[in-house]
Amino acid sequence: MALEVIVLAAGMGKRMHSSLPKVLHQVAAQPMLFHVIKTAARLNPQAIHVVLGHGGEQVEAALQGLDPKVLALVTTCTQAEQLGTAHAVAQALPQVESDSKVLVLYGDTPLTPQVELERLLAALDDGAALSLLTAELTNPSGYGRIVRTAEGALVGIVEDKDATAEQKAIHEINTGMIATTGALLKEFLPQIGNNNAQGEYYLTDLAGLLVQAQHPVVGITAAPEHIDLLSGVNNKLQLAQVERLYQEQVAAQLLMDGLTLADPKRFDLRGELTFGQDCFIDINVIIEGKVTLGRNVVIGAGCVLKDVSIGDNSIISPYTIMERSELKVHTTVGPFARLRPGNVLEDEVHIGNFVEVKNSHIEYGTKAGHLTYLGDSDIGRNTNIGAGTITCNYDGANKHRTTIGQDVFVGSDTQLVAPVTVEDGATIGAGTTVTRTVKAKSLVVTRAPLRAIADYERPTKKKKA
Ligand code: UD1
Ligand code: CA
Repeated sequence: MALEVIVLAAGMGKRMHSSLPKVLHQVAAQPMLFHVIKTAARLNPQAIHVVLGHGGEQVEAALQGLDPKVLALVTTCTQAEQLGTAHAVAQALPQVESDSKVLVLYGDTPLTPQVELERLLAALDDGAALSLLTAELTNPSGYGRIVRTAEGALVGIVEDKDATAEQKAIHEINTGMIATTGALLKEFLPQIGNNNAQGEYYLTDLAGLLVQAQHPVVGITAAPEHIDLLSGVNNKLQLAQVERLYQEQVAAQLLMDGLTLADPKRFDLRGELTFGQDCFIDINVIIEGKVTLGRNVVIGAGCVLKDVSIGDNSIISPYTIMERSELKVHTTVGPFARLRPGNVLEDEVHIGNFVEVKNSHIEYGTKAGHLTYLGDSDIGRNTNIGAGTITCNYDGANKHRTTIGQDVFVGSDTQLVAPVTVEDGATIGAGTTVTRTVKAKSLVVTRAPLRAIADYERPTKKKKA
């Protein structure tokens, strides 16, 4: 039997106090809905039907950011009015085949463990018509309760707002995730009414209806360690809690895989990290996009790395920000350095404090230690860039490249007015403004002559009357 997944994402999320549709609020820099869809995709479904409502256009547009392979599985439908979870599922039903297994997920429950969903689906293989993921909670208030006979046979689900005092005392709750078939949904959803406390069409009524029709309904109890992961996000507090839970899980996995984290509670992964042996990441580092570390790489405190690869034995000192750059082996960068997009730093390059580098290729062993801007430049091997060097790459209209050869010595406080070339072995005196080609092995210097005035008296402060 093929599998189809329905994801409910029509709710407005009033309690988020935000103009952003609830399911687009982010966990680890991705919309919550993406987490749900990705988990669904790992179950190899034939289709993932997303039910849109509030902010539907915005959500639909955001879906384009999914991995193309996953996006290819996604279809959307619209629930114009939020009349309840059964009504929401009904909007997707015309697209669902009768002979499919159907899994219903909520777009605001981003951390649902895949194994629990697999257990729901396995229950169908074992003969259940409907399987529900339930959980034992010390504080069940707000949730639908699982009603059972004295013998423990499942009778149905009663929503919190409809529950009697006796039912409210039940600690087994409905997480909301269910598995059943297209055929049963098509047969039984139309029988669900809205005669209840909220005047809504409850998907949860499906359980009672199927039991009455003598279809086997099974409650699958979530593993206790998964209960926190099954909580939905209704407000910013829960969003922050879910983010921490996610980061804790990620950090635990990275540690188990051999990464050293100074403190797993002060590490944020907002993308993908791959790393070699003996890497160390200090506190408060943020990893975004795709980041690759070789072996024995050290990332200092407070660094933000986005879409970069860093070769073996490199050291990135604290508070360095880098994006879309490739660093080869034995590089040292920072503290307080900024690598903007488009850099390649070859082996043993050193970029020091308060140095900004953009769209530049820097060859083996070259150093720019202090207070420098290198933009749109190509710099040869073993060149020394003095403190305060600036490539003047922008003429107010266009960007131009600066080319510097190998074994060049650029004195401190040099301005290189691009486009300009400095040939191999040249020396540039401190304070020089370079406006034309510097020939190989020559010295250039532009410097106003020093004047000396003997016995100079500095102005003194006038006394106030
Ligand atoms: C639902 C369950 C409850 C369960 C709880 C777990 C029902 C009737 N109740 O209650 O048994 O314990 O989840 O968190 O299903 N949605 C739509 N369209 C609608 C209504 C809801 O798309 O018309 C979506 C919401 O955006 C949300 C999800 O369905 O993602 C759940 O809806 P919500 O109103 O939050 O249900 P709960 O009251 O939490
Ligand atoms: Ca909810």
